[in-house]
Amino acid sequence: MKRLIPFALLLLSPTPVLAGANDTELWITLGSDAVKPVTEAFAREGWAAPTPYLTKDDVTLLPVFESQLERIAQVMHDKFNRCAGFVTYDSYQEAMASLTPSAQADVWPPTVPSYTLDSAATVNKLIAVLAESNIRGTINSMSAYTTRYYTSTTGVSSANWLRTHWASLAAGRSDITTELFNHASWAQPSVILTIQGTTLPNQVVVVGGHLDSISSGSTAPGADDNASGIATFTEVIRAAVAVGYRPARTVKFIGYAAEEVGLRGSKEIAAYFKNNGIDVVGVLQLDMTNYTPTNATAKVGVITDYTNANQNTFLRNLISTYVGVTQANSTCGYACSDHASWSNAGFAASIPHEAIVSQGNPYIHTVNDTIARSGSTANHALHFAKIAAAYVAELGEGSAP
Ligand code: BES
Ligand code: ZN
Repeated sequence: MKRLIPFALLLLSPTPVLAGANDTELWITLGSDAVKPVTEAFAREGWAAPTPYLTKDDVTLLPVFESQLERIAQVMHDKFNRCAGFVTYDSYQEAMASLTPSAQADVWPPTVPSYTLDSAATVNKLIAVLAESNIRGTINSMSAYTTRYYTSTTGVSSANWLRTHWASLAAGRSDITTELFNHASWAQPSVILTIQGTTLPNQVVVVGGHLDSISSGSTAPGADDNASGIATFTEVIRAAVAVGYRPARTVKFIGYAAEEVGLRGSKEIAAYFKNNGIDVVGVLQLDMTNYTPTNATAKVGVITDYTNANQNTFLRNLISTYVGVTQANSTCGYACSDHASWSNAGFAASIPHEAIVSQGNPYIHTVNDTIARSGSTANHALHFAKIAAAYVAELGEGSAP
């Protein structure tokens, strides 16, 4: 509900505690000229600076905490002689609905990040602790399920295993949570691990890949497609905890359900993020990272369709700077994996693939998609763990002690 809060009433409300913990997040629109004085007032209170979500036609949309409204009202009164002078909304959707449709289209998605490489120290700390044996271990655990098909009981138990595994990796870190994202139309859930950002928590970096499998036989190990992608970023989660990495932006690792049946899990998740106004600044997809064709044109194929050109340039820089392996552009020619769900929802997505697409793994979607076809090692996937670690640290910002 839209609420106009009179200044006098706000003065009667209890003294605000420092914004945080049990404080309700709200959205306000106010004149853009008021952002600076409000920011200064927050600094005097020892509060983090408010992050303007978007500015359009001299109006700025700002997420704030309920306990901060009184201080904002004081600023508006003292500096501008405006009574209240801002409008409060309970949800992002209501706030956006107050803007004209053209304004909404112009500002989505709200944050375009800087793609400069400025976190080498953090990237190198993460890369130093990545281990092939852990990636191999996760591939073996996931591909040991008879199938991870989205309607099967083992499809559900494999997702639950992944959630438990991630929770055990994150034990001891109160800023890391794991959850299941349930889907109404089928049994298998998606799995999400979140590292809460320290200074830009409303900006989100996503690294993901699908956790389901499919085959024409009843056995669907899906070792390369896509236990390998899941295992690759699971090792980045482990490394982040091992080095004490704390990102400035919120980082979410997502195992998507039901990719093999039409990107269904990621489609629902991208829609959920969009409908809830979650400011996703970038998405990295890992789908098939552990098969190397003989006579490979390149170690990494950078997929250029259904992806974001600027973020792809950033990705190429990460690969040449931090991994030093050969790379070549390639296309799927269709919406081949979950990155397309994000691209179609308006977010910047990229996918580094194990090869150029024309030289890809011929065993996927069969009972022969096993780690044996990759020499029973995860050596190739380790390159992609380095890429993902670099992506997380450079886009997530923050530091490791
Ligand atoms: N991992 C594949 C996509 C893929 C295959 C990417 C080869 C690059 C090279 C994915 O799991 C898949 O099988 N996708 C389907 C399409 C999807 C919309 C069901 C496919 O490619 O047929
Ligand atoms: Zn597949």
